[in-house]
Amino acid sequence: MDLSTIDSLLATAPGQIAGAADLETLDQLESVLVGRRSPIAELRKGLGQADPQDRPRLGQALKAAAETINEQLDARRVVLESAAEEALLESDRVDVTLPAATPARGTHHLITQTMEEVTDIFRSLGYQIESGPEIEIAYYNFDALNTPLTHPSRFQSDTMYVESFDAEARTGGDELLLRTQTSPMQARYMEANPPPVHIVVPGRVFRTDTWDATHSPVFHQIEGLAVDTDITFGDLKGTLAHFALEFFGPSAKTRFMPNFFPFTEPSAEMHVWFNDGWLELLGCGMVDPNVFDAVGYNSEEVTGFAFGMGVERLAMVKHGIQDIRHLFENDLRILGQFR
Ligand code: DAH
Repeated sequence: MDLSTIDSLLATAPGQIAGAADLETLDQLESVLVGRRSPIAELRKGLGQADPQDRPRLGQALKAAAETINEQLDARRVVLESAAEEALLESDRVDVTLPAATPARGTHHLITQTMEEVTDIFRSLGYQIESGPEIEIAYYNFDALNTPLTHPSRFQSDTMYVESFDAEARTGGDELLLRTQTSPMQARYMEANPPPVHIVVPGRVFRTDTWDATHSPVFHQIEGLAVDTDITFGDLKGTLAHFALEFFGPSAKTRFMPNFFPFTEPSAEMHVWFNDGWLELLGCGMVDPNVFDAVGYNSEEVTGFAFGMGVERLAMVKHGIQDIRHLFENDLRILGQFR
């Protein structure tokens, strides 16, 4: 048996193995060098025919050659495997230094922010925050507030009735409507609670107004009511002037002008000096004794004042918003300006 093939195999194998660039090539090389059809395997098969005396030496030589080549293959495999692992780690790598995608931060709507700002000012004066139903009974929206059946605000042209409205059959009292003002909570609250009263009521109100730059059929009001045994018009003016200073800042100037509301006597409106002009901000007045009588208070013993302001108006005046529709169209480019 000629072992020269083995010698040349042992001479060339290291170079071939070192040249295998990846595991697949190395596997192919393994089967060529030590596989079932390799020269070593072929020589092993021929051992039977060799001279019995030579067999152990030949067998040893073949075994040693196979071991040498296998060791070289294994060593190369370790190198290639760890290189493959490195490459996988590299391609899978998460770059933790990349800037994170920041989720868009939301805000409270300007109307909500304004209501919170106003109620906070009154809360710090000791007022309690209340809320009431948006679908109201005509009795609370009008009758208990000293508003006669003939008052124009009761007509369908101003008020949205929930049930079909029959002007002829109108008896007042039990018709259902979308409240046109937050004032009905004055009556509801006093009916359920004895004096003294210090409440503010933020909420949504509805009127048959046509949508334009200064009108919306849905808007928001904040009602206020203070009742005790000795409340005067001076308390009303002082409280509302304080509110204006807190809300608009220390340079805010206010003035009161006479007005009429069915549920207050006397009634007034408060104006604020803003951007070189007087702006009407709210209606107010001393609670009419008829309202106290309607809710079961003794109008000989208590006095009080009430006021009602439009939230959109406050926000528009304070932030210079020209069109009320900006507050309802929910364009994030506009709303996002008020964080
Ligand atoms: N409710 C009135 C309105 O919507 C506003 C108002 C005026 C409320 C005078 C009051 C008040 O409490 O005393 O126009």
